[in-house]
Amino acid sequence: MRQKTQIPALVILALGLAALAGACKKETAVTQKGGEDMAHLKSVVQEPFGRLSDGTAVELYTLTNAGELKARIMTYGATLVSLEVKDRAGKLGDVTLGYDALDGYLKVSPYFGAIVGRYGNRIAKGRFTLDGVEYKLAVNNGANHLHGGLKGFDKVVWKATPFEGQGARGVKFEYLSKDGEEGYPGNLACTVTYTLTDADELKLDYEAATDKATPVNLTHHSYFNLAGQGVGDVLGHELTINADHFTPVDAGLIPTGEITVVKGTPMDFIAPLTIGARIAKVAGGYDHNYVLNRTGQGLEPAARVYEPTTGREMDVLTTEPGLQFYSGNFLDGTITGKAGKVYPVHAGFCLETQHFPDSPNKPKFPSTILRPGQTFKTSTIYKFSTR
Ligand code: GLA
Repeated sequence: MRQKTQIPALVILALGLAALAGACKKETAVTQKGGEDMAHLKSVVQEPFGRLSDGTAVELYTLTNAGELKARIMTYGATLVSLEVKDRAGKLGDVTLGYDALDGYLKVSPYFGAIVGRYGNRIAKGRFTLDGVEYKLAVNNGANHLHGGLKGFDKVVWKATPFEGQGARGVKFEYLSKDGEEGYPGNLACTVTYTLTDADELKLDYEAATDKATPVNLTHHSYFNLAGQGVGDVLGHELTINADHFTPVDAGLIPTGEITVVKGTPMDFIAPLTIGARIAKVAGGYDHNYVLNRTGQGLEPAARVYEPTTGREMDVLTTEPGLQFYSGNFLDGTITGKAGKVYPVHAGFCLETQHFPDSPNKPKFPSTILRPGQTFKTSTIYKFSTR
């Protein structure tokens, strides 16, 4: 009996695998740069981008849209390496900080362009209690846990699958974070999809599922300078943040748990104002989580940034409740990035869409706990235009 049922099952499995292999082959048959094999993907180019010290190969994908905007993303950290967008004269310029080659990212990177996880931002003392069990995470920022620990999602090689669709192209990145990694419970299967659309949007879609309850807070850590990477600082950029409240922090940048109104403080960006206008009044510069004004569950406006000299404008839309505005305070001129540019303090700003820092220890903040059977699903769009 057993054998009889096993044979057809095996045949079905083999047929299934063959079909899957065929489908995968088709999907990964991308255009090789400079190669003869000009395959069906017209707007995605794949090329090698070096190797880790253990020999693991890192690939780079270049996405180009109808307006010639270009996003280059590598498998190490699922990192956005460069993003070329037009200024008001139609001239393309790279608006993100980073390095020309993999080597720079491996030596020292303050999360340039990376995907951050399992938990974006800080968890106080690297500890939290979940369902009565205390978990101890890797501590890598003073006494605290930051951006997933010693080897967060920014420092692992992701599996990549490029694709092309109507008016869009992108790369789907997958990573399985093992039970116990950096102290977190549960095997967490993550997918981050970057899509560059013909509407000049870079869209990030995040998904995750777990086999044990765990905190999850995934985000993207590009440092933007809309005047062009390496062109001075970002203090002249005009910023609007759609938030009436923020979460104040202690000296270690851990939220105190309060939710405070921005009105009447230097944190208020409800109306456009330059980043530099009141930065001197904020100890250390901006590095705060904003509580976004939201009306529903979908993609809603979080922030807008305008750079007057080039006319470049960026809109940030998200499904997330929070936005970390970081004004590049820890950049100090010791990093030489792309095209030999030195990055001084405030050379870039980050707008990290996410849940609030230290939520696992703050019962009043929106929950970041993902349980087996649930799907973590968030989206963020960075949309570019000029005026
Ligand atoms: C985040 C944090 C900052 C800093 C940077 C990385 O934005 O909020 O405090 O750690 O990442 O340097």
